[in-house]
Amino acid sequence: MIFPGGRELFGFDPAVSYLNHGSFGAVPLPVREAHRALLDEVDANPMAWARRLPDRVAAARERLARFLGADPAACALIANATTATALVLHSLRVRPGDEIVTTDHAYNAVMTALERFAGRTGAVVRVVPIGLTAGDDEIVEALAAAVRPRTRLAIVDHVASASAKLFPIERISAVLRAAGIPLLVDAAHTPGMFDAEVDRVGADFWVGNFHKWGLAPRATALMAVAPQWRESIEPLVVSHSDPLGWPQSIEHQGTRDLTAWLAAPAALDLLESLGLDRVRAYSVQIAAYTQRVVAEAIGAPVIETGAGVPMRVIPLPAGVAPDQTAVDRLRARIGEELGVEINLNLWRDTALLRVSGQIYVRSEDGDRLAAGLPRLLG
Ligand SMILES: Cc1ncc(COP(=O)(O)O)c(C=O)c1O
Repeated sequence: MIFPGGRELFGFDPAVSYLNHGSFGAVPLPVREAHRALLDEVDANPMAWARRLPDRVAAARERLARFLGADPAACALIANATTATALVLHSLRVRPGDEIVTTDHAYNAVMTALERFAGRTGAVVRVVPIGLTAGDDEIVEALAAAVRPRTRLAIVDHVASASAKLFPIERISAVLRAAGIPLLVDAAHTPGMFDAEVDRVGADFWVGNFHKWGLAPRATALMAVAPQWRESIEPLVVSHSDPLGWPQSIEHQGTRDLTAWLAAPAALDLLESLGLDRVRAYSVQIAAYTQRVVAEAIGAPVIETGAGVPMRVIPLPAGVAPDQTAVDRLRARIGEELGVEINLNLWRDTALLRVSGQIYVRSEDGDRLAAGLPRLLG
């Protein structure tokens, strides 16, 4: 299985099978060229660059917002999903004993930020367990049952990281809205992976990274905030544009390099020229192939965590990587000894090996992992 010309669009080390697009993305060569040209332009005349920057940021914001089905007025460019979560927590007013609801699929950095927030404010974090293969009705009911009069915020992933679990985010948003509970959608994987339809989701806060499935240079994300919250959002770093309010107060931070944001439209151009549907269909298909051959090789079940998600997980046998140190060591050995980069996380007590499909992945990459993994687990 091959996406013609897919691998050639990227600059991978020929010795590597790269099956971890989901963690850091990978930037195609034409997008890197566009990014480099912007960096050259900055230093051709930094003053002229600075004069034009606000208009160019606004144009990039508008393009990215429209790509996601979001009202551009609701949106701010931001470095990443981690920053957006920090921004929401920073702007949230809570009293000791107030609650934040999330699930046991939440991203590790988000959980860590929540623990620190709870320690600082006395808020309580309620973690709702959701099974790996739970159906949509079950997920919506579990979240609806977890909210209380003192719930101040819910944080739910659209597609979770460690488990690749897809959440029915539109239904979750509707149920929480009806209950009067603000929702932050962690849609870190959504741009490029799905048509986000941000306006239709109707969450209070929504953030998606473009540097994963949107193929943009890293530190490019878009955050959408519902009108009733925009005035209460306080920038994490206060700078010259603070008096301008949303979204400039969030986007502008001194001389921070914003060239990645301006190069992001080149990534969308590339995706659109390749055909978004074609890219998505191939990515899902090659991820499913990879999951199947690896699961077969180690005698693991083939688990379905969400249609249309080009990331799949394979549970490793119990005891193979029982703690974080063992997980980190095994992930590194797979990279260094097999030349295959994957992600591996402990979820509950199971080590989940996650593979990602993309247009640069070929069936031989999965075959290589399937051939080498049993020895490393042995
Ligand atoms: C579900 C989820 N949330 C948040 C993040 C954090 O993204 P970033 O590192 O770009 O802030 C990730 C990254 O993989 C993720 O998968």
